Amino acid sequence: MTVLDNQNSSEDILPCMRRRELLMASAVGATAATLAPGVTMAATEGGAGTYPRLSVIRMSDLIEGEPVAFSYPLEEQPNMIVKLGTPAQGGVGPDEDIVAFSVLCTHMGGSLRGKYNHEFKSMGPCPFHFSTFDLTKSGAIVHASATQHLPQVKLEVDGDDVIAVGMNGLVYGYRDNLKDGSPVVMQG
Ligand code: FES
Repeated sequence: MTVLDNQNSSEDILPCMRRRELLMASAVGATAATLAPGVTMAATEGGAGTYPRLSVIRMSDLIEGEPVAFSYPLEEQPNMIVKLGTPAQGGVGPDEDIVAFSVLCTHMGGSLRGKYNHEFKSMGPCPFHFSTFDLTKSGAIVHASATQHLPQVKLEVDGDDVIAVGMNGLVYGYRDNLKDGSPVVMQG
């Protein structure tokens, strides 16, 4: 209602330009309301509640360069954990080289499953538009279309167990990493 009122009064001044601007603003608003909520949100901690603690894998079972898939913090959110063989930001374990990331590209949700490159310690290129992410630098973008880091799973080590305890960044398609899905089963 407010927009229409403004449109009527401003058309008296600059009819064509104002009308076009208002139509564009209206279209953007409509798009934002229908897109997957996570698409336009800035990277944050990605969840307003308490993250579950999930025992992901035993350190002794991880083989360098061989990613293992797991879901976190919701069953619908796919991730991978990998021992990079070189220290990384957020890395855990005695070599600080165990990291875990979402496998949903932050550009438009392309699947990065199977796209780990051990030579470059990177994820990608994404099959959709070739985005590639540096896993030693918290999932920073090194190539192409994405504008946000790949969300990184926060990890802790307890004895031989690697435990997921949180998430840095918003998983593609979610307004909140902890909503609109089934939480993984919480451990101890
Ligand atoms: S969806 Fe991955 S680069 Fe576009």
